[in-house]
Amino acid sequence: MKHLISAGDLSRDDALLILDTAEELARVSERSIKKLPTLRGRTVVNLFFEDSTRTRISFEAAAKRLSADVINFSAKGSSVSKGESLKDTALTLEAMGADAVVIRHSASGAPHRLATWVRGSVVNAGDGTHEHPTQALLDAFSMRRRMGRLEGLKVAVVGDILHSRVARSNVLLLASLGAEVTLVAPPTLLPVAVENWPCLVSYDLDAVLPKSDVVMMLRVQLERQNAAFFPSAREYSRRYGLDRDRFAKLHDDAIVMHPGPMNRGMEISAEVADSPRSTIVEQVANGVTVRMAVLYLLLGGAIGGEVQ
Ligand code: CP
Repeated sequence: MKHLISAGDLSRDDALLILDTAEELARVSERSIKKLPTLRGRTVVNLFFEDSTRTRISFEAAAKRLSADVINFSAKGSSVSKGESLKDTALTLEAMGADAVVIRHSASGAPHRLATWVRGSVVNAGDGTHEHPTQALLDAFSMRRRMGRLEGLKVAVVGDILHSRVARSNVLLLASLGAEVTLVAPPTLLPVAVENWPCLVSYDLDAVLPKSDVVMMLRVQLERQNAAFFPSAREYSRRYGLDRDRFAKLHDDAIVMHPGPMNRGMEISAEVADSPRSTIVEQVANGVTVRMAVLYLLLGGAIGGEVQ
């Protein structure tokens, strides 16, 4: 496999190879000198047309830990503001010798288009409401580390599913890894044809929580909402927020996840977000090792092909 555009493109073996490689690379991240020479002489371009903290910084850290040269491009302050197209921007960066382009864009499908224009590998770092495959991989990695398995794990993904690329990528990946996902949201925040996704769907968070091993809370993406999807933030929080009382409904070993950034006090209370059973900070650290594994395997041609 040359590109990573969708979690659905990964076979179970591909996904496990990435998680197992990340596990090996995590040991490097624990050393005082964290750098490996693996991608010396290769160039990774981070092409970000949408804001990001975690994904952009962790891809940069991942590429640098593998000794790649990194070019960071942000649409703000570039010739995109003068009207330059995605294609011309991509070709300009390719002329600088990109072996891999990591792209975040507000348009669903932008990474797929990019892959038809550039010679290097394309990694989807989040496209519109479509997919965020490396987030799903780091989430699966974090779950496996905490819970010791993915097969048979009951995962509730809660909140603004309609606007969430994280939810779609997690459902696709976790289904192929044998976990059982339940999406929980008000009917207005579920996508059309969600019944065709490989997961269960519920409107009732209180009924799902006691049966869950993992609860992944999603940010309410107010910036993508062009209509009133719920009466008020207070009402949303009352029905779908994870506060202390709801947290108490979970079994003692269950964990709480959130991809970040969080709306503290809306979908998750500060007390729950900062509890020892929250993996939110771990997810960020794991993002670096998982993205190292993705770059290493893609540029080595080992996903969906022979391990070199
Ligand atoms: N989880 C995530 O994608 O965060 P950023 O938007 O900060 O990259």
